[in-house]
Amino acid sequence: MKLHTPLCDLLGTRLPIIQAPMAGGTTTPALVAAAAKAGALGSFGFAYTQPEAMQRDVEAVRALTDAPINLNFFVNAQPAPIAPEAQRGAIDAVAGYYQALGLPTPAPVRAPYAPDLNAQLAMAEDIRPAVLTFHLNDLPAEKLQRLHALGIKTGGSATCVAEALHLEALGVDFIIAQGGEAGGHRGTYLRDPYEAMTGTLALTRMIVRAVKIPVVAAGGIMDGAGIAAVLALGAQGAQLGTAFIPCTESGAPPIHKQSLLAARDDTTVITEKFTGKPARGLVNRYIREMKASDAPQLAFPAQGVLSGPLRATSGKAGNADYLAMWAGQAAPLSREMSAAQLVITLEHETLEALERLAALRR
Ligand SMILES: Cc1cc2nc3c(=O)[nH]c(=O)nc-3n(C[C@H](O)[C@H](O)[C@H](O)COP(=O)(O)O)c2cc1C
Repeated sequence: MKLHTPLCDLLGTRLPIIQAPMAGGTTTPALVAAAAKAGALGSFGFAYTQPEAMQRDVEAVRALTDAPINLNFFVNAQPAPIAPEAQRGAIDAVAGYYQALGLPTPAPVRAPYAPDLNAQLAMAEDIRPAVLTFHLNDLPAEKLQRLHALGIKTGGSATCVAEALHLEALGVDFIIAQGGEAGGHRGTYLRDPYEAMTGTLALTRMIVRAVKIPVVAAGGIMDGAGIAAVLALGAQGAQLGTAFIPCTESGAPPIHKQSLLAARDDTTVITEKFTGKPARGLVNRYIREMKASDAPQLAFPAQGVLSGPLRATSGKAGNADYLAMWAGQAAPLSREMSAAQLVITLEHETLEALERLAALRR
């Protein structure tokens, strides 16, 4: 038996499985190459990556495999430069943590707070990946047409039916239905993110019913049983993020991997305190204390620049207190293996789950 849906033909992959793009260093060239070689769609989370580094990372993958890959970007208007005086409250809120980690007193952050999206997309056009996906907002129809003219397939994240219909009307090739369980930032852009928390099961089914293009389900899917479940809902594929974080090739700090592997229940919460935008991760000291103090924060992604040294230093020191350990609600189902092993395991488990379901017929 073979695991195949029309999405595989669209993306050019052997399997209807997407290794989720994860910005911030998790999706290393080694991870993307290993997932792609094993038959999934390997994806780079390039939200915070400058064009030259994108080129270098993609070349590193292309040296290992010519399997299709996906480049993913955040679509987000840059906040206007925030005056140093206006940053005082947010800086004071994290200064004690800087001190605890032996870092110098934090200084006001300076714009630009993220790479220029147009420059990133221009580089993506040069690279010509098989697939390009975007997150946190829409891309104009003309941009999508340019990408299509280069033979690049496109997909966007939706967290409600209205977002899926809007993306379909703009001309994307597929929709990523991102349920409330999902780890990291969710792509809500037409609604209040705290009100667009529909779970993967309900969201996938509603979007499948609403649009004509393929739907990929994301959020809380960690194994083949989860993949079979979303295929039963009519999704043509599954995008898994948290499941790939503990993989050998992932760039997540070891303490993030260990914390996922040690999880026994859902201890994730949604916080804006790391980046200025709601994102789901394992609860820790920083999240708890920042919430309790109701400290002010900078707009996304400036708050991420302010918390960056804390996160990096905490990760390197093996200290879980100040690190953003993004994770979906099914984190306790995390497993330790290589990305290739994970993809092959997911394939076998999905086929087994489908067989188990078929055996229920009388
Ligand atoms: C560490 C981490 C970083 C993420 N970064 C991105 C990103 O850069 N772009 C994106 O489209 N989605 C990102 N996501 C969301 C994933 O694409 C996906 O929707 C999510 O991981 C699915 O839920 P799961 O973690 O339960 O598998 C991220 C998720 C995690 C856990």
